[in-house]
Amino acid sequence: MLTYDLDLSIRDATVATPIEQIFLLTDENASLHCLPLVLKTINIPREHILTIPAGDSNKTLAFTEQIWNFLFSHGATRSSLLLNLGGGMICDMGGFAAATYMRGISYVNIPTTLLADVDAASGGKVGINYNGIKNAIGTFARPKAVIISADFLATLPTKEFLSGFAEMLKHSLISSPLELNRILSYDIDSAPHDELCTLIERSLIIKNYIVEQDPEEHGLRKSLNFGHTIGHAIEQYQLRAGNPIPHGYAVFYGLLAELYLSVKLLGLNDSVIRQCLPLLYNYYGKPQCSCRDQDELIELMRHDKKNIAAGHINFTLLKAVGNARINQECTNADIREALDWLFAL
Ligand SMILES: NC(=O)c1ccc[n+]([C@@H]2O[C@H](COP(=O)([O-])OP(=O)(O)OC[C@H]3O[C@@H](n4cnc5c(N)ncnc54)[C@H](O)[C@@H]3O)[C@@H](O)[C@H]2O)c1
Ligand SMILES: [Zn+2]
Repeated sequence: MLTYDLDLSIRDATVATPIEQIFLLTDENASLHCLPLVLKTINIPREHILTIPAGDSNKTLAFTEQIWNFLFSHGATRSSLLLNLGGGMICDMGGFAAATYMRGISYVNIPTTLLADVDAASGGKVGINYNGIKNAIGTFARPKAVIISADFLATLPTKEFLSGFAEMLKHSLISSPLELNRILSYDIDSAPHDELCTLIERSLIIKNYIVEQDPEEHGLRKSLNFGHTIGHAIEQYQLRAGNPIPHGYAVFYGLLAELYLSVKLLGLNDSVIRQCLPLLYNYYGKPQCSCRDQDELIELMRHDKKNIAAGHINFTLLKAVGNARINQECTNADIREALDWLFAL
């Protein structure tokens, strides 16, 4: 399974150049719940550990500078290694700081949230929020390794678990009916550990297969954006409104609205929506936006960096489960109809 032993040798084949010093970046929650387990197996001097406050609002240039300063002040060189222990926030910002420090040092992700396990920690998209825009500054830089252990998830709040679950749902929707059934039949309440490990592994296989074919998102990788055009707009809207929701919640709402568009525009069988709706009623709850927010949401979609031409809103939609169609344009009227439907659920 993906529960790699934490005593793996950081000097092994995963890192070509010998590592002189190891640094670790974490946030306050991962530090509390996960760092002790890591320190049992990897010896890192206390002064080489930087703990920053938790939360996506801290994925900023100011904290990136703090990471760079921390590395400089402890004499990190291009032969140093940065371990990122935490959720997607730490993996994204730590990866970005590593990719830019002295034109790039090696980094390894040790994800501690479900979302980071199945999505943020692998794939090499690193970056920070800037000027109020999520992930506005960043680059592609793959980690040397990703060390995943479902044991870290024991302390994860349910909300964060559901956030990652939405990304697993997305992977299954773009993969196959078999994968979708696997996800939808998982019992979230009892959360059986072995089955969860299998689902994490399946999800990563789907994501990594796509990333390997198209690392820099010129084509196929855009299928991973399913649910994210509307999802990102909702996430950003909620953030601006001072009422942030976890990334995966926004993605879940985005998935539903983009399934609606897929039914309308590409003839997707609407039974898929009916299969997914119980997750809304039983777990995610209704989105907190309303029809009044539509203009702002559409404006946010218009500025999404995934758009090919400025002003056009670019979607990935499904013709069928396992058959994603990238670069789909929808009219404002279609988008409004999908949002109306979503907000009326
Ligand atoms: N690079 C990518 O491809 C990619 C993909 C998806 C999302 N992301 C990014 O990932 C971020 C979201 O990731 P996330 O949901 O992991 O958020 P996060 O890193 O903010 O973690 C969520 C919360 O869980 C806490 N936490 C972490 N591990 C814990 C544990 N084991 N026990 C208890 N609490 C724990 C964190 O401190 C935080 O409060 C966003 O910044 C998003 O933009 C990046
Ligand atoms: Zn996502």
